[in-house]
Amino acid sequence: MTTRPADQPDQPGQPDQPDEPETRLLVGVCGAANVMNLPAYLHALRALPGCRIRVIMTASAAGILPATTVRLVADEVYCDGVHNADPGHIRLARWADQFLLLPATAHLLGQAANGLAGNLVATTLLAYADAAIFFPSMNGQMWKQPSVQRNVERLRADGHQVVEPEPAECWEVASASFQQAAGLPAPRVVAQMVGVLGMLVRRSGGAGQVPDGALGEGDIDAGH
Ligand SMILES: Cc1cc2nc3c(=O)[nH]c(=O)nc-3n(C[C@H](O)[C@H](O)[C@H](O)COP(=O)(O)O)c2cc1C
Repeated sequence: MTTRPADQPDQPGQPDQPDEPETRLLVGVCGAANVMNLPAYLHALRALPGCRIRVIMTASAAGILPATTVRLVADEVYCDGVHNADPGHIRLARWADQFLLLPATAHLLGQAANGLAGNLVATTLLAYADAAIFFPSMNGQMWKQPSVQRNVERLRADGHQVVEPEPAECWEVASASFQQAAGLPAPRVVAQMVGVLGMLVRRSGGAGQVPDGALGEGDIDAGH
C-alpha cells in the first residue's frame, strides 16, 4: 500500500492552486459493516476545498473492505499491523488538521474512552492533540448498551465530537437482511459537518477546540 512521504509532490487529482488552503483529513476506519460504504464518504469529503485524505484502517476494517479499494479514493492508506512504523502514529497525528473516525465501532469507542492504544487507529488518536470527530455505526442493541453510552459520554466530556448515529435500514450481515441500526448520516451531511468544523477550528486559530454542540442540527442540513 502506498506510503508517500509528505515532502514528495502531490498526486494527480490534488489541488493545483499553490495558494489554495489545504485541509488535511485523517480518517480512522474501523470494522463496522458500514465500512462497505466508505468510498462514498471519501468521495463526498474530497469535494471540500484543498482536501487531502489519509486513511488508517484497523485489521477488522481491512478484512471487510480491501485497502486497495480505499486507495483509489484516498491519497494514502495505512493498515494496522502493516504500516505501524511507516510513518507511524506520531507523524500521522501531527499531519492531520482534522481526525475523523468513520465508521467508529463500539470497540474503538471503548478504547478511545479509556485511553487504550490497541491498534494504529487508537494509538494515533492518543497522539492527536485536538478534538476528534467520531461517527459511530453499529447494531441498535449495541448502541443502546449502557457501557457504550458511558464511553460516548466520556469521549464528549473529554472534548471530542461524537455524532449521534442516524436510525437507518442497514444491511445486517448476520441475518442477510436489512435491519434498523444506528447508522451513519449521509455522505453529503458528513462532508458538511467536517466543513463546518474545519471552519470553526480555523476561526479558533487552529487550536482544535470547537464549542460544544457545534455539530447540532441547526448548523447542518440533515437531509439525505
Ligand atoms: C461482518 C461484521 C460486521 C460488523 N459490524 C459492526 C458494526 O457495524 N459496528 C461495530 O461496532 N462492530 C461491528 N462488528 C464487530 C467488529 O468488527 C469487532 O468488534 C472488531 O473487533 C472491531 O475492531 P476495530 O474496532 O479494531 O475495527 C462487525 C463484525 C463483523 C464480522
